Amino acid sequence: MYRTYNCGSLRINHVGQEVILSGWVQATREFGGLTFVDLRDRYGITQLVFNEEQNATLSDLAKSLGREFVIKAQGKVRERSNKNPNRATGDIEIEVDQLEIINASKVPPFTIEDESDGGDDLRMKYRYLDMRRNPVREKILFRSQVAYEVRSYLVKHDFVEIETPCLIKSTPEGARDFVVPSRMNPGQFYALPQSPQTFKQILMVAGFDRYFQIVKCFRDEDLRADRQPEFTQIDCEMAFVTQDEILTTFEGLTKHLFREILSLEMEDFPRMTYDNAITQYGSDKPDVRFDMTFKDFTKAAQGHGFQVFDHSEIILGIVVPGLAEQYSNKDINALTDWVKRPQIGAKGLVYIKWNHDGSIKSSIGKFYSDETLTQWAEQCGASKGDLILILSGETDSTRKQLGELRLEMGKRLGLLDPKDFKPLWVVDFPLLEWDEESGRFHAMHHPFTSPKASDVSKMLNGDHETMKQLRADAYDLVINGVEIGGGSIRIHDRALQERNFKLLGFTPEEAERQFGFLMGAFEYGAPPHGGIAFGFDRLCAVMKGSTSIRDFIAFPKNNMGRDMMIDAPSEIDTTQLKELSLRLMKE
Ligand code: AMO
Repeated sequence: MYRTYNCGSLRINHVGQEVILSGWVQATREFGGLTFVDLRDRYGITQLVFNEEQNATLSDLAKSLGREFVIKAQGKVRERSNKNPNRATGDIEIEVDQLEIINASKVPPFTIEDESDGGDDLRMKYRYLDMRRNPVREKILFRSQVAYEVRSYLVKHDFVEIETPCLIKSTPEGARDFVVPSRMNPGQFYALPQSPQTFKQILMVAGFDRYFQIVKCFRDEDLRADRQPEFTQIDCEMAFVTQDEILTTFEGLTKHLFREILSLEMEDFPRMTYDNAITQYGSDKPDVRFDMTFKDFTKAAQGHGFQVFDHSEIILGIVVPGLAEQYSNKDINALTDWVKRPQIGAKGLVYIKWNHDGSIKSSIGKFYSDETLTQWAEQCGASKGDLILILSGETDSTRKQLGELRLEMGKRLGLLDPKDFKPLWVVDFPLLEWDEESGRFHAMHHPFTSPKASDVSKMLNGDHETMKQLRADAYDLVINGVEIGGGSIRIHDRALQERNFKLLGFTPEEAERQFGFLMGAFEYGAPPHGGIAFGFDRLCAVMKGSTSIRDFIAFPKNNMGRDMMIDAPSEIDTTQLKELSLRLMKE
């Protein structure tokens, strides 16, 4: 027998019991004639003690233990004289009378502590050691708990868990596909799913009514802290539903998760239209933990001889509370440099300080009188002591830039508390987005999204300009500025789906070749349907107050899309290439 208890379970009421524990050596310490060993497993740490006077051989064996050795120890639980209140087992220790080294360990390449000295790639190469560390282990266990509660809620609400294939044909979700060559069909390729979108729609046609799957998705796109090439979705679809029923069901799921896992009761989620999100926050995933919404100065500011403003399409500002006197010229200059960085791309930054004594200081004081600027400050709801920051230029880019500046100021003012959860539904997304460069429309969500019922006839009969105005029954769930999930009501009618493909630049033949199976299914009694997919990794990260999804994934990839542990991707040998009818291109 390896153990009668785990390393996190013994308490004062176990004193006097003979127990067996197994685990990893966290640390050893010698003190007088005593040797202490911290024994660790997934559940906690228990202190073992060896007395040289009582058993010199055993004590010597304990002294020989290195970090991360796997051992088994048998002994009696006793009360500690100096208790450790920071540890659940801190009231007791084990007076060991038998010790066995099960497996020795090399010295680990980084410390197995909460704060490790290992760099990212090293920790990923030895991911099994990294996962022994509390912060990583806790995140992986947390993920498992969230998955359990997701299943519990959805099954209770009649959702059926169904697996869909991984070797499929490309589903356009806006990223590049990972492809897999087919040995049996030379020159042909499968694509790994960017999502199971078309399959879940087919399941609705098949009559399953409510489907879900916790499923791997693959997207060959540039990586960021909140993006991995393979990630997991909680993918869901429902038949005979309205948008409102979908939002209510998945708001219910989100509330259930926060209640069961974080013991937090969430209020009903506010809903904001896409247009409002863009005009007030410059983003389709606004962080509504703090206010600082956009103020429009375009009308007031133009025609006063300030060329920059006069030549701008839009002039927008935010009111930063309390910073008028706190921000020196140096701070403003640094902030100006910040907005001018290529990542933000603003041309300059205008400020108005409304000091506590009512005086005005501004970078545009030459063009506008103090009275005018005071009036602006009053009209946009500022108070004395506030700093107004203004950007101007082309509409879309100015909104985006000010959105970034708003987030930066929120961060600087400490308004982004990760434990303050502010969910939001963003609704009424445009159906199509016109791309000047390629001269064609793109689907804002994906090509299977339905226009609003009131826009269907416009979509079937309208002109080019009308297409830009179409709204979709598409929605995103945003929590603390992170897009947690997205979905839509789908098209379930062949003619409308054909029209959509045409608008997206598909020829009828292309549409038939790629999606004939789906449009064909629509001709055999397709029910109205819709759904949503949550980014499971992102949901876990946000719930834990983390901005990176990497440690919520047991075996993540690095920024180059590499798995450092197994060293993938890697070359394959020529026999394998031949079998797959592949030849590497030589320069
Ligand atoms: P969408 O493309 O919006 O919708 O994806 C749904 C959610 O998946 C998460 N996500 C990612 N997470 C980590 N790494 C990535 N590379 C990544 N890409 C996306 C996001 C996002 O909100 N088929 C539709 C859903 C539907 O319409 O039902 C879809 O995939 O949190």
